[in-house]
Amino acid sequence: MAEDLCLFNKDSLILKPPKKSILLLRMVVLIFSMVCGVYIFSVCLRQISVQSTGQLFSVQVVRPCEPPNVEPSEKPFVHYPKPKTFSRAECTCHPVRYFAILSTQRSGSGWFETLLNSHINISSNGEIFSVKPRRTNASTIVETLDKLYNLDFFTSASKNECTAAVGLKWMLNQGLMQHHEEIVEYFKSRGVSIIFLFRRNLLRRMISILANSYDQNAKLLNGTHKSHVHSHHEAEILARYKPTINATTLIPNLRQVDEMVTKALEYFKSIRHILLYYEDIIKNPSKLREVQDFLRVPQMDLNSRQVKIHKGSLSSQVENWVEIEKALKGSPYESFLQEDYKM
Ligand SMILES: *[C@@H]1O[C@H](CO)[C@@H](O)[C@H](O)[C@H]1NC(C)=O
Ligand SMILES: *[C@@H]1O[C@H](CO)[C@@H](O)[C@H](O)[C@H]1NC(C)=O
Ligand SMILES: *[C@@H]1O[C@H](CO)[C@@H](O)[C@H](O)[C@H]1NC(C)=O
Ligand SMILES: *[C@@H]1O[C@H](CO)[C@@H](O)[C@H](O)[C@H]1NC(C)=O
Repeated sequence: MAEDLCLFNKDSLILKPPKKSILLLRMVVLIFSMVCGVYIFSVCLRQISVQSTGQLFSVQVVRPCEPPNVEPSEKPFVHYPKPKTFSRAECTCHPVRYFAILSTQRSGSGWFETLLNSHINISSNGEIFSVKPRRTNASTIVETLDKLYNLDFFTSASKNECTAAVGLKWMLNQGLMQHHEEIVEYFKSRGVSIIFLFRRNLLRRMISILANSYDQNAKLLNGTHKSHVHSHHEAEILARYKPTINATTLIPNLRQVDEMVTKALEYFKSIRHILLYYEDIIKNPSKLREVQDFLRVPQMDLNSRQVKIHKGSLSSQVENWVEIEKALKGSPYESFLQEDYKM
């Protein structure tokens, strides 16, 4: 269009026969063509700048949410999942943190998880990998984790669109040690934080395991087996059973668990983590504040309806206490015989 305009001007110039000198006419034509050139150039420039601002605009639309108060060191841990199954609505741009509770059976992790899930913004989805096909190989594990962290995994612990921390409970013997290299890689690349939850007194843990497995058959509570209870009455009934611990295999068993925990801490030490012991949480409820800080969720009072099954002195909880005492005296596990907390 600019060119047309210029040509028209040129034509009109040529059509008007000048009376002044040819040189002056040539000068005028030259000046006009220069003006034309500048005009075309400026139009082109404007088009280029319009194009580039258009590109900038579309980049901003694709770019994920970026709240102003995220520190650079926190960036790898902050996520904005886009679930396939629902919309995060007004919380689309609220950051979500990923976590995994790494634990062993009968270490208070069930109780701990109910505490976490009493927080309005925390969703901890239980032992997802107790289902064997999900831990067949590293790819099925990654697939399952992807679904969980994208908020597309539905359990009773799934929260609303304003979930700020999402995770699971993962026992060391559920494919975690076997595929530790791939899992470390995944945790690192996806910014998953670890909550280690172990039990200091592995003898107490052993009593809990034996009692729980006895109840699987005996079903002391009106013919139903319960791993966790919600009333003192039920806890009392379950605690009436006193297991006999095999004194010969006791130390090798304790050592095996001890070594597995040490190995897990070693495998996953490069991942952002917090290390908790069941006993410390029982003795000091302010530990739960540390956990909430670690997950970067607003502080709330957490509560659980679960009731502790085994209370009171350790010596009253096993049938063959004298034998156990003798076996552990002088071993690295002697300290397990001492009272570590009172309820
Ligand atoms: C926590 O959940 C509440 C209720 O859904 C929501 O209003 C709030 O913004 C959430 N907080 C965070 C930090 O996401
Ligand atoms: C992992 O297991 C799934 C299901 O059994 C199978 O379909 C897939 O081929 C396996 N992947 C690898 C890499 O072995
Ligand atoms: C067993 O059932 C009876 C009758 O329903 C009830 O009164 C009792 O409390 C139950 N006991 C336990 C341990 O749940
Ligand atoms: C303890 O366990 C060992 C090995 O499993 C077994 O040979 C032994 O009979 C057990 N002892 C008792 C008292 O059950």
